[in-house]
Amino acid sequence: MFAAINTRAMLGLKAPSVTVEVHASNGLPALSIVGLPEASVRESKERVRSALLSSGFQLPPQRITVNLAPADLPKSGGRYDVAIALGILLATEQLSVDLSGFEFFGELGLNGEIRRVPGVLPAVLQTVQDGKVAIVPLENLQEASLAVQGGPEGGDSAQAYGASNLLELCGFLLNRNVLESTLPVPEPEIDFALDLADVVGQTQAKRLLELSASGGHSVLMVGPPGSGKSMLASRLVTLLPNLKRDQAIELAAIRSVSGQEVAGAQDLVRKMISPHHTASAAAMVGGGSTPKPGAISLAHHGVLFLDELPEFSRSVLEAMREPLENHRVDISRVNGQVTYPAKFLLVAAMNPTPSGFFPDDPYGRCKDTPDQIARYQKKVSGPLLDRIDLHLEVPAVDIDALQAKSNPQNETSETVRQRVEKLHLKQIARQGCLNGDLTPKQIQQHVPVDQQGQVLLKNAVERMGISARSYHRILRVARTLADMSDSLDVHQNHLAEALSYRSFDRHSRSF
Ligand SMILES: Nc1ncnc2c1ncn2[C@@H]1O[C@H](COP(=O)(O)OP(=O)(O)OP(=O)(O)O)[C@@H](O)[C@H]1O
Ligand SMILES: [Mg+2]
Repeated sequence: MFAAINTRAMLGLKAPSVTVEVHASNGLPALSIVGLPEASVRESKERVRSALLSSGFQLPPQRITVNLAPADLPKSGGRYDVAIALGILLATEQLSVDLSGFEFFGELGLNGEIRRVPGVLPAVLQTVQDGKVAIVPLENLQEASLAVQGGPEGGDSAQAYGASNLLELCGFLLNRNVLESTLPVPEPEIDFALDLADVVGQTQAKRLLELSASGGHSVLMVGPPGSGKSMLASRLVTLLPNLKRDQAIELAAIRSVSGQEVAGAQDLVRKMISPHHTASAAAMVGGGSTPKPGAISLAHHGVLFLDELPEFSRSVLEAMREPLENHRVDISRVNGQVTYPAKFLLVAAMNPTPSGFFPDDPYGRCKDTPDQIARYQKKVSGPLLDRIDLHLEVPAVDIDALQAKSNPQNETSETVRQRVEKLHLKQIARQGCLNGDLTPKQIQQHVPVDQQGQVLLKNAVERMGISARSYHRILRVARTLADMSDSLDVHQNHLAEALSYRSFDRHSRSF
C-alpha cells in the first residue's frame, strides 16, 4: 500500500512543502528512509518504531520505504516523525482516513508523545495560506496561533490543532476525540521592566537615546565604569513604538526558527539582544550546518547591544559590516542559501581606555600609556566605527543628582515613546523610511540645508577630514534633529549638534 502525508521543511524563514511518501510491500522486513535525510532524520526510524509500538500499533513484518520528497531538499531534525508515523499507519492499513487536507509537524518520543519542534510558525503560516489545517505539537500551539491570526482568514480558530501524543492524534483524525485548537492572541502590550525614568541625570545621554530611537541611528557610548552606559543602552528598546503585526510575526518566526520558545503576545514586542563578547561569528550573524539565525537577526526590528565593544573579536565585528548596510544576512551552504532579515538598531558601549577611565580623569585613575590606549582603541575596527552615527562620551553621574533620587521630573519611557512614534509616522509619510535609512539620493531631496548650515558643514568637513559615509551620516542625524524641533529645513544648530556626536572623527579615534 502507498500513502502520502503533507508536512514542511525548515529552510531559513521559508517552509517548503515536503511530502512523506510511504510504501509498504511484501519482502524482507525493513524500514528505510530516503530523500536526503540528515542523521537526525535517519534516527527518526527508531523513534517512530518505538512510538508506534508504545501506542499499541504494530510494525508489520513488511518492507517499508519512506521517501521525503522532493529528494534534493536537505532535511534535518525530528519534525517529520509524526508524518512518517501516520504514513506508516496508512500504508499498513492500521488507519483509514483521508489526510490530504492536513499538514503534520512534530517529533515523537519513544512513548508516543509528540514533542515541540523549531520553525512551526513559518510552517503554519504557509499551511494556512495553502488552505490546509496544521496539526502541531501541543507545546507549539500558542506559536501556531500567531500564524493563524496573521493568516488570510485571521481569527479562525480551526486552522491549527495541538496534539500531545500519537493516540490522541489518531483519535482526532478518526473523529473520536477533540484536540485543542488555536486561541486568539491578545494584542501585545509594551511592559518593560526597565524605564528611562530610572536613570538619574544624564540629560545629554537621554537626548541621544531619543534621537537614536527617533531616526534609527546607531550609538556608541564611551565612559568610565559605572557611569551608566549599560543602564542607558538597555533602555533604548523601551523608547521604540509598538511593532506592527507583520513585523511582529516576522520577528516571532526568526525566534521560532532559532529554536526558541515562542509562546504568545510577549514574543510580539521588540527585543534587546545583548550577545556576550565571547560570541562567535556564527552566533553573531548566524550559521551552522542548517543555518540558524544569529544575534543580529534575533534583534530584528529591535536593539542589538554590544557591551564592552573592544572585547569582541575583530572577525566577529567585521562579519557584521555587511548586514549593517544591507539589513539582512545571507548564509551560503553547499545545499543552498539562507537569508535572514537583520534590521536592528546598534548600540555599543566601551570604556575609553584599558583601565576604564578617561586619560584626563580628575582623580588620576588612568594609568595607561598612550600606546596601550591606542592599542585598546584600535581593537574597534575603523569601518565599524564609520557605520555608527552617534558617538557620545558618558561622564560619571553627578553625585548631587544621584542623591536626589526621587526626581519627579524624570521622563518615563512611555512619554518619550509617544514623541518617537509621532516622528516615525512623520518620516514614513515623507520618505517611506526612517532618516537613518535615507539613501544619498534621498538625502539630496529631503535634507534641505540652509545657507549658514552649508558653510558650517563645509568648514567641518575640511577641518575634520570626514569620510563621505560620515558626511551622509551627519546629514541624516541633522535631519532627525530638525524633525525633533519640528523644523522643515536643517539649520546650523542641527548640524552643529549632529557634528558634536562625531567625536571619533574629531579626535581621530583618541578620546
Ligand atoms: N544615571 C544613573 N542613575 C541611576 N543609577 C545609576 C546611574 N548611573 C549608574 N547608576 C548605577 O550604577 C550601576 C552601574 O551602571 P552601569 O552598569 O550602567 O555602568 P557601565 O557604565 O555600564 O559600567 P561598566 O563600564 O563597568 O560596564 C547601575 O546599575 C545603577 O545602579
Ligand atoms: Mg556596562
